Amino acid sequence: MEQNAKIYQDLERILVTKDEIAGKVRELGETITRDYAGKKPVLVCILKGAAIFFSDLIREIDLPLTTDFMAISSYGNATKTSGVVRVLKDLDNDILGKDVIIVEDIVDTGVTLSYLRSMLLHRGAASIRIAALLDKTARRKVKDLVVDYVCFDIPDAFVVGYGLDYAQVYRNLPDIGVLSPAIYEKDE
Ligand code: IMP
Ligand code: MG
Repeated sequence: MEQNAKIYQDLERILVTKDEIAGKVRELGETITRDYAGKKPVLVCILKGAAIFFSDLIREIDLPLTTDFMAISSYGNATKTSGVVRVLKDLDNDILGKDVIIVEDIVDTGVTLSYLRSMLLHRGAASIRIAALLDKTARRKVKDLVVDYVCFDIPDAFVVGYGLDYAQVYRNLPDIGVLSPAIYEKDE
């Protein structure tokens, strides 16, 4: 997609390019391959935001992994978290005794992941690690949340693209960009 395409016009700037993303995703795949040597981890995709990151990441991991999918709600159409986490679609398979890697698009306050981690531990996972494409550490509320793998630390700005949305739009942008505040201010 050309950067002068229509949906690119709603961006203030590009933050991470598709080539930078591909490089980091490849590195993360190699790291996970090493860290889980001899194991068969379950990679859990948190829908919908992590779907594109997930599909690229699992193809960079050289292990007999399995996949599962979960959907949770935290944001609605707003750019601020509601603090309420609801499971909209649960995992299909049991994770008892499994090594689970939760794959998430972005860690913001950390409320979503901290809830998810304790829920999956409660179900008897042997281990749980978190892999996030983006981390906005400046906005963290859950201070003790450990994010095991992060591709990019980003500043406190609302970003879209490569799976991340605003009101369900922009997920198909190949790069990650800062959304122009004018776009969401008119909805507030
Ligand atoms: P947390 O519970 O505050 O950490 O929220 C994490 C979720 O909020 C992510 O999975 C995203 O769905 C959403 N989110 C947080 N920041 C952004 C952003 O900059 N762009 C798009 N979605 C975001
Ligand atoms: Mg999400």
